[in-house]
Amino acid sequence: MEDETEEELPAKQKEKAQDAEEKRRKYQFIEDIPGVGPTTAEKLKEMGFHTVESLATATIRELTQASVGEKQAARMIAEARDSLALTFIRADELVKMRENVRRLSTGSKQLDELFGGGLETQTITEFYGEYGVGKSILCHQLAVNVQLPEDRDGLNGSALYIDTEQTFRPEWIIRMAGALGLDPAQTLKKIIYSEAFNSDHQILILEKADKYIQENNVRLIILDSLTSHFRSEYLGREMLVERQQKLNSHLHRLVRLSRAFNACAVVTNQVMSKPNPFFGMAVEAVGGHIVSHTSHTRVFLRRTASGPVRICRLVSSPYLPEDERIFKITEEGIKDINEEDEAHQQTTPHDATYRSSRN
Ligand SMILES: Nc1ncnc2c1ncn2[C@@H]1O[C@H](COP(=O)(O)OP(=O)(O)OP(=O)(O)O)[C@@H](O)[C@H]1O
Ligand SMILES: [Mg+2]
Repeated sequence: MEDETEEELPAKQKEKAQDAEEKRRKYQFIEDIPGVGPTTAEKLKEMGFHTVESLATATIRELTQASVGEKQAARMIAEARDSLALTFIRADELVKMRENVRRLSTGSKQLDELFGGGLETQTITEFYGEYGVGKSILCHQLAVNVQLPEDRDGLNGSALYIDTEQTFRPEWIIRMAGALGLDPAQTLKKIIYSEAFNSDHQILILEKADKYIQENNVRLIILDSLTSHFRSEYLGREMLVERQQKLNSHLHRLVRLSRAFNACAVVTNQVMSKPNPFFGMAVEAVGGHIVSHTSHTRVFLRRTASGPVRICRLVSSPYLPEDERIFKITEEGIKDINEEDEAHQQTTPHDATYRSSRN
């Protein structure tokens, strides 16, 4: 066997890298995948599978709903996964995948620190808290920040804003963009807005989202709010199971999109009051088990006694300790507090009890 000379090596490595790249790009469109003919492609698209990424993370059951046979579904998923190298991976490769995780700034240094450097891509962050606490404002801020270049702690991408309560306000975006030195008109162009009229519509929007995500380089997917429609439509105990099943698959779809496109996923959630034997009245996030287990990072927002200052508590995270920081809401968006606010905080008592939800 001949020895490889030093000159040969880089060329070979280059070739190898090109090969890998070729492989990754083997199937650009779902129609390219063996076994996906025009009719199947059409059906898959109707079901919301527009991209190879979405097929790679689909389940056989989802595809059989598009009248694809089980065997064919399994083969298509395998091909799509192979194309994206999403099969079994070694732990060192997992480390590499983690290396692709990027972070998005909230606009407050304090909050970013709480989240270990900003919100992570490839995972869901849930903000929950009472009415008017600032969940939607935070979503607006993130939709602007995501457009910043990476050296300004953005993701250089656009945002998909799924609004279930008609609370999206372009005026906030305009003010926030201006404050960051971004062109407000351009900033608005990079927010894809979609209003969900009911829970089924909300599910459908997310199912159809992958094409828009890809075409627009969406790096932040916002669901504001995740639970409001579900909460008002599925009433009573007898509907609970169905509600939880739907929420579960909805959230899994969201996680998969965030992984496939290396995007941040942010959901908001309301709280409900619950009597607690130790703390009197406590509040807890809507959605029960499903939401708390699927959301990778859970954040509880609460008011201080008065004014624009809010307390942000990291309730659960895969690797960060429980902790809290404060921030404030201003005309220009989310900001760190200054000394004046701090002095005010010290003279005003904090709010009522709260409890994080893990049930
Ligand atoms: N210019 C401003 N400066 C400071 N605070 C403001 C300003 N404008 C609005 N606010 C505060 O922001 C709050 C609205 O926050 P937001 O709409 O984000 O709440 P939310 O948590 O999404 O509530 P909901 O559960 O109803 O959706 C108001 O309660 C108000 O106190
Ligand atoms: Mg809101």
